[in-house]
Amino acid sequence: MAIVTPARTDLPALPHWEATPGDLPGAIRQVKAALRARITASGRSVEDVFAVIEKRVRAGVEQIAAEKARGETVWPVIDYADIAAGTVTADQLARLRQRGCLIVRGHFDRDQALGWDQDIVSYVESNRFFETYRGPGDDFFGSVGSRPEIYPIYWSPAQMQARQSDRMARVQAFLNAQWTSQSDGVQWFDPQRDSLYPDRIRRRPEGADSAGLGTHLDPGTLDLWMTQAYQRAFRHLFDGTVEAYDPWDAAYRTAGPQYPGTTMCSAFRTFQGWTALSDMAHDQGVLHTVPIPEAMGYLMLRPLLSDVPDDDMCGVTTNKVFPVSDTRHPLLLEALTGIPDVRAGDSVWWHCDMIHSVAPVQNQRGWGNVMYIPAAPWCPRNERYAAAVREAFITGASPSDFPAENYERDWPDRFQPGDLNQAGRRGLDLE
Ligand SMILES: [Fe+2]
Repeated sequence: MAIVTPARTDLPALPHWEATPGDLPGAIRQVKAALRARITASGRSVEDVFAVIEKRVRAGVEQIAAEKARGETVWPVIDYADIAAGTVTADQLARLRQRGCLIVRGHFDRDQALGWDQDIVSYVESNRFFETYRGPGDDFFGSVGSRPEIYPIYWSPAQMQARQSDRMARVQAFLNAQWTSQSDGVQWFDPQRDSLYPDRIRRRPEGADSAGLGTHLDPGTLDLWMTQAYQRAFRHLFDGTVEAYDPWDAAYRTAGPQYPGTTMCSAFRTFQGWTALSDMAHDQGVLHTVPIPEAMGYLMLRPLLSDVPDDDMCGVTTNKVFPVSDTRHPLLLEALTGIPDVRAGDSVWWHCDMIHSVAPVQNQRGWGNVMYIPAAPWCPRNERYAAAVREAFITGASPSDFPAENYERDWPDRFQPGDLNQAGRRGLDLE
């Protein structure tokens, strides 16, 4: 386990806001001035600290460009069988940590995944979902034609079977183990227990046109700079020890608050992920990431440079997804890399701080179907949210992170409490 350096206490304290500040531009001005002052008091300049991160990121960008030029697969790929047997090699592990993203081949049998896809179709059709669908409940994902692309469905037997399965638990524990979950005598999260974060389904049909989703990230917005917990989590960026910044350090990340918003995720996720329910070719509007975990340090420091106005965090604001742009972050976008071809039953994972996007597609070949299932290990933050999830599960409501669309409340064949296994009960804190 890595040794985690504590925050320096000899530097000027930072102002912090545990709830969304009323005066956003004022708070941005205040926190930026304080962060700059803190870096200066540590004996370094903002430009110097940023240059350290930029150099690390640039090395990654150049390596990725070289791999692409040689026709290599940038995304690491590991067979589920090796995770289950404990035969993942040291090289594969190093590559996973270097890239911060992963394809798990054969996570589920292909027939199992295709069966789940059909079960979901039967589940929504028998409950007249398409007849009663009222349009997108938020503006996060668009819809295609009259039918949705994102189904606001959380409690189908297929989704719950996958969430509580041994195979899912094994992969989540493997991914969680890439993080430092314990340091300074604190267990920040339990890598062996998942909180079953319920999320939606995407089913994008053959022939679909989709605009995709622009480059963004999901861990938070202004709270990343403004709450005390995140200021501590990113302490090395702001206290003169930027070389010690470690994207895999969970310290201070798993208990703090998050500013509410339409795009929030209440849970701490080590990795975001989805399981493929159809085969998908790499050029059919698939997920892309900037597979450089240290890029988060770049994003956190970039607004402190002198070319960004004092009341601007490079466009980051509450209630809007954290944008990554050509104007402020052109270096990062050079490394944007799509997943390779995947088959039904493969799963796709990316570090929770990772920049990602979904490519546009025209007249899509084949289906593009996924179940979103992340790794959200047990920790104070996820325990809090699990109470809300348990309630939603019992009543068939939409979980509180999502719009209150509540389609499944009266659907008789949704997954029932009696169908939970031990992992399911532990995930919902029912035992
Ligand atoms: Fe996202």
